[in-house]
Parts: sequence; C-alpha cells; structure tokens
Amino acid sequence: MRKLSKAKKKKNATIVGLQWGDEGKGKIVDYIADDFEAVARFNGGSNAGHTIVIGGERHIFHLLPSGAPKGKELLIGPGVAVDPVVLSEELALLEGRGTHADLRVDGRCTLVTPFEKVMDVAIEEMRGARPLGTTRRGVGPAYAMRALRLAPRAIDVFSNNFDFNSARTFHRFLREPPPSLRDWLRLSRKVLKEKLGDVASRVAELNEDGKAVIFEGSQGTLLDVFYGTYPYVTGAPTIANYAAAGLGVSTNTDVLGVLKCYTTRVGAGPFPTEIRGRLGEKIREVGSEYGATTGRPRRVGWLDLVALKYAARLNGVKEIAVSKVDVLEHAEELKVCIAYRLDGREIDDFYEALPFIEDVKPVYRELKPLFHAEMTDGHLPSAVESFIGLLEDQLKARVTLVSYGEERSRTIER
Ligand code: IMP
Ligand code: MG
Repeated sequence: MRKLSKAKKKKNATIVGLQWGDEGKGKIVDYIADDFEAVARFNGGSNAGHTIVIGGERHIFHLLPSGAPKGKELLIGPGVAVDPVVLSEELALLEGRGTHADLRVDGRCTLVTPFEKVMDVAIEEMRGARPLGTTRRGVGPAYAMRALRLAPRAIDVFSNNFDFNSARTFHRFLREPPPSLRDWLRLSRKVLKEKLGDVASRVAELNEDGKAVIFEGSQGTLLDVFYGTYPYVTGAPTIANYAAAGLGVSTNTDVLGVLKCYTTRVGAGPFPTEIRGRLGEKIREVGSEYGATTGRPRRVGWLDLVALKYAARLNGVKEIAVSKVDVLEHAEELKVCIAYRLDGREIDDFYEALPFIEDVKPVYRELKPLFHAEMTDGHLPSAVESFIGLLEDQLKARVTLVSYGEERSRTIER
C-alpha cells in the first residue's frame, strides 16, 4: 500500500478583489509569491490587467498569472477563457526579456476564437445607448459559447472531432459574417502544443509534495456574473470559491481579499460613491487610474463599506491587503460610505439595495484625512492606523498587508 506523504502540507491562498477590479492584486501576488511554488489563474481571460512594477519597470499581464517576474510555475485552470493570440504575445514578451515561462494550460480551458471577439463588439453595439463598456476581449461571449457548447476547448484544436461548423452557422444566424479560423487554428496549435496539461492534478500533486499554490483572481467581487452589479459585470464568477471550480481543487484555502483605499470602476454601471469633479480627477491622476487593458480613464469614488461588507462575507475573507494608501495623502478630505439613502430611508445591506443600486445616495462618515501623512520607511502614521482600524472593525477581518506605492518594496506587513 502506498504510504501517505509525510511532507508538511502548506495551505494554498486565494487572492481576490473586493471591489470592481484594479485593487492591486497583481502587486500583492508578486509580493507574497516567495512562499509559494506556483501561481494559478482560475477565472476571466485577457480582460484582466495585472500590473507589477519592479525597479521602475512596469509589467502588465492580461492572461498569464502574475508569478512570471518571480520565476514561479504558472498555471491556467479550466475556468479561464484563453485567447491563444494574447497567450502567444505574452510568452514572446517574456522570452524577449530572457525569461522562460514555466507554463501549463489546462486542456479543458475554453478558447476565445475570432468569433467571440466579433460577438463582443456586436453585442455592445446592439445595446445602443446602454453598453456595458466591456474590454471587447471576447471573454463574456466565450463563457456564453461554452454554456451553449459551441466554444472549443484547448484540447479540441488537436483533434478532428470538434464541430467548428456549428459555431460558424451560429454566426450566420446572428447575421455576422463568420471570420476565418485558419490562421487562428495554426497559431493556437503552435502556442498550446507543449503547454497543455491537467492543471487540476498538477495543483494536487504540488500540494501532495507540501508545496502551496496561489490562486489568483481576476476582476473583483462586484463584477461577479452572479453576485455583482448585474448586468454591468464580467462574464465569469470572480468570488474566492470559484477558485475551486475553476481549478478543480479543494475549497480549503486561505483567502486574502484586496481592497484599494478608495474605489474605482472602469466601464459602465452603478457606482454609488463616485466622486465627480476636481477631486475625482486629482485622485485619478495621482493614482494613475487608467485601464491597464483598454487605457480608459477609471471612474473614481470613496470607499463603500456597504459593498465591502457584502464582498468580504461572500469571499469568506479573514485577511485583507489594503492598497494605494499613498494616493490618499494627496486628498484633503477622506470619507467612507456607511449606508445608502433611498426615498428617505437608510439601507446598509447591499443585497437589499441591489434592485435600486442605480438610484441610492451614499451616506458618508468623515474621517481624519491622510493628507501629507507621509508613508515612509515601513511606518504607518496614526491617521492611517485609525483608518485601517475602522476597516478591520467593519469587515471583521485583519489587515495584514498595506501597500503604499507601486514598487514591490513599498509594502508593510502588519
Ligand atoms: P468584460 O469582462 O470585458 O466583458 O467587461 C465587463 C465589465 O468588466 C466592464 O465594465 C469592464 O471594464 C470590466 N472589467 C473586465 N475586466 C476588468 C479588470 O480586470 N479590471 C477592471 N474592470 C474589468
Ligand atoms: Mg487591473
């Protein structure tokens, strides 16, 4: 009989965003990566924009997990919609920098074909005056086509069994001329050839050897297709437990929620704490709040505790990383939203507010500003400490990491 492994098992960690994405997950993944063997993506596609800055150099990954700069093993689970064109570009970029990516893509991943990109644009146009403002990377349509059983999996480009004709016919049905798949198929086979594997079993194998894996979430909880501000959401689940489904592994992981100390949202949709005017513009400039995938200016707002409490609970968050604290040093005021007002009554439950989320008005608590708080040398000024204390109290979780600049070094452990 096979002996059970004696190796001390380290726990996997799931990293998720608690807002509408762009919380700074990429930097946090990079920061904690030393303790882990591999970084695995479990959701989304090339709509993500994970930014890591090292020595002044900015690395942006849309599809690859954020573990590349640390030379970690990279895994892409079946829950991800993989665009082979983007994959090929990002691998070439790494090779150009002299980094070989140790990557495995699960054969069960949904592939984004030229069809889905055409669909993404066509559906946005169909919505007329109320587009979602998608990244147009074909991600939502890829999940839809998977549900319709019309999208190929990664393994399907290597067999003759898959019926690509049905997808073509479907496009004609949508009155869209189907784009040619010839070049796409050639490129997909080339880029996926050596990379396909069973990612679910690889994670299990690493764990069996006592090695832990980071499950890197994309987007944020409020963009989750079931729990977010539907229909202004992405095409996939984004909450922590989807890591288990998207990778084919156990749900037993540590969960680290990442939140930015103000809120941003790129694309359309409700945003109760949006700051309009000069202050919003200032925070956008200081915080470089422009979409990493599309370059669009991000909408900026105050922290929303109603939404954050909902997100923290949905993800089972016990630990939190707070990012971009340095940006608030440039704002002369500091507010957090503690409830919503609707028709003269106050609501502090996000679910209850959801049907009216476009109409609610924020109720703010004014806090001592972090203006000129000067985050330097790993020291947290008292105004920052009391701000963090409020977050811990409200979200019932510990803030264990504070990030106060883009560089890897500008991070404090608490
Ligand atoms: P899609 O994911 O491209 O379908 O876009 C749907 C919505 O999610 C749009 O509002 C996008 O701007 C937003 N979104 C998608 N990916 C990200 C991301 O990585 N960060 C922030 N917003 C995103
Ligand atoms: Mg981003």
